[in-house]
Amino acid sequence: MSKNYKRYTVTSALPYANGPVHIGHLAGVYIPADIYVRYLRSKGEDVKFICGSDEHGVPITIRAQKEGVTPQQVVDKYHEIIKNSFQEFNISFDIYSRTSSEIHAETAAGFFTNLHGKGIFEEKTTEQYYDEKANQFLADRYIVGTCPRCGNENAYGDQCESCGSSLNATDLINPKSMLSGEKPVLKETKHWYLPLDKYESWLREWIIDGHKDWKTNVYGQCKSWIDGGLQPRAVTRDLDWGVPVPLEEAKGKVLYVWFDAPIGYISATKDLTPDWEKYWKDEETKLVHFIGKDNIVFHCIIFPVMLKAHGDYVVPDNVPANEFLNLEGDKISTSRNWAVWLHEYLEDFPGKADVLRYVLAANAPETKDNDFTWKDFQARNNNELLAIFGNFINRAVVLTHKYYGGKVPAKTELQPADLVVLDELKAFPAKIGDLIERYRFREALSELMNLARLGNKYLAETEPWKLIKTDEDRVKTILNIALQIAASLTIVAEPFLPDTAKRLAQMLKIKPDTWAAAGGQDYLVADHQLGEAALLFEKIEDATVQAQVQKLLDTKKANQLANSTVAPAKENITFDDFSRMDIRVGTILEAEKVAKTKKLLKLKIDTGLDQRTIVSGIAEFFDPAQIIGQQVSVLVNLAPREIKGIESQGMILMAENADGSLAFVQPSSAVKNGSGIS
Ligand code: MF3
Ligand code: ZN
Repeated sequence: MSKNYKRYTVTSALPYANGPVHIGHLAGVYIPADIYVRYLRSKGEDVKFICGSDEHGVPITIRAQKEGVTPQQVVDKYHEIIKNSFQEFNISFDIYSRTSSEIHAETAAGFFTNLHGKGIFEEKTTEQYYDEKANQFLADRYIVGTCPRCGNENAYGDQCESCGSSLNATDLINPKSMLSGEKPVLKETKHWYLPLDKYESWLREWIIDGHKDWKTNVYGQCKSWIDGGLQPRAVTRDLDWGVPVPLEEAKGKVLYVWFDAPIGYISATKDLTPDWEKYWKDEETKLVHFIGKDNIVFHCIIFPVMLKAHGDYVVPDNVPANEFLNLEGDKISTSRNWAVWLHEYLEDFPGKADVLRYVLAANAPETKDNDFTWKDFQARNNNELLAIFGNFINRAVVLTHKYYGGKVPAKTELQPADLVVLDELKAFPAKIGDLIERYRFREALSELMNLARLGNKYLAETEPWKLIKTDEDRVKTILNIALQIAASLTIVAEPFLPDTAKRLAQMLKIKPDTWAAAGGQDYLVADHQLGEAALLFEKIEDATVQAQVQKLLDTKKANQLANSTVAPAKENITFDDFSRMDIRVGTILEAEKVAKTKKLLKLKIDTGLDQRTIVSGIAEFFDPAQIIGQQVSVLVNLAPREIKGIESQGMILMAENADGSLAFVQPSSAVKNGSGIS
């Protein structure tokens, strides 16, 4: 099954330019892809790493509507933000292109025309919802109504987010257009369909028989799609944002975003090099798509059918899709702001892109959904990067400076323990490379750490700092070997931790070498002068991660508030009922906690009528010293009550949040004490 390839085209899913990117994107798609590509380059392979922004489709138009701007403005903004984040995390794309570009429109339209010319598409007229007021057909996402399954009144035309059912717009009870709020009508419209059903036997042969090597999650999803029976899929839409369908009779229609976006990989390659064809059309090119699990059907079935139908293109050799990353036990969600955004991470952890790369690669959701927690982030930094990798390098370089002025000492006689270590060192690059080639990045990373561990253990066991007094020859050999390990780390760590590898190479004063040089026992020659020792990692303190956890807790609270339901209205009262209440503006003169209670404050209030004592259950939310002098609303004719032995003469009016927190009801500008409220 494994062919001999001459070159690689590696793509990673084009992110929708409707929001910034977060740790889930990085862990699921871009870090694994980047590790793979950096490794291939280090091996000297011919590889192109392709990505760009996915700028069409309904997610973009919905965002534009929300922000009150045009779709082009939305994608211009997020394209820049996303592109920057990738750069800052050293995702080493050969090109980061975009699908609103001219070259993409031409390429996608050309692809459609090619298939149309071959008579591939089926044309069908169906009834779709139309908004007569807005004069347009409605995408499923633009229709809301009652879910026929669970009764949720805010279900979308494609899905009910309350019960998770996937729906057809025509299933909704009481459908409403999100554009005008009107009830949409059904209207006939013609579309072009890709007949997936006609490719079933090819797909079976190619995937089910031919690609048992694919990851089980990917293979399993493909099999269930194919076994479930494939249907023709519309590749055009009635929408005004996208690549226009290149047919006279299709005026006002655009290509379906999932038709044009994967062609974006091809147009981005064109954008990169005039030599693009050999990266797409030559049998000796290995095409690999890195994606998240929600993209499997598009990359394993629909896009390959498009490529196959066209006939000039290669189909993917592998589609190593990942599962999802959760955050602190909850699904990452853009709309709920439940995410660690990449641009925010770098504001809080400047210069620490590699730490996040490390933690995300170590937790990559390769076989099942995984969880990111700040505690784990801290532990992996402190106990792994710092305590193992950083500590080993620091010891080796510092000791060499101390004993030999920073010059690599020559090996003397080798002992059995040294030979074992050198043998292990030699075996690591192939072991790590093999895991990367099989898309097992977590294991590859843990082998990388094992190499650092090997060095650490070697120094801890041989204790050169003790031997220096008794056996200098041994010390020379030990430090030489430790430095050979350090030198190899500059190569094998590079795919995972590119910044760190660069800084390490500077410390050792070596130029980055190719993968083949790693594992060598004389990579650093005797007398080679090292640079100054520098710390590769620093400790992350409890307070730092606690601040991040607090940020998330605040988000959660804000979400709860936003979603909390408001208490139902009370029964009507007459104006007389209302006017029996005497409510006045007063000023807090004194405030103190009521002894042995948690919630009570004893207040002295100037009501304009008198100065009186009121006991109020607000102590959890207000510091007594801070509220003196504030004006509040007081119900002055509430019959006095005794509370904890104190007579309370009235009541302060408070507004209560859903979480129980309280706020004063205050005049918006100062008024005279005793002024009535009505
Ligand atoms: N924008 C899509 C998503 O974020 C991925 C598109 S991948 C491509 O889910 F192949 F279509 F480009
Ligand atoms: Zn439902």
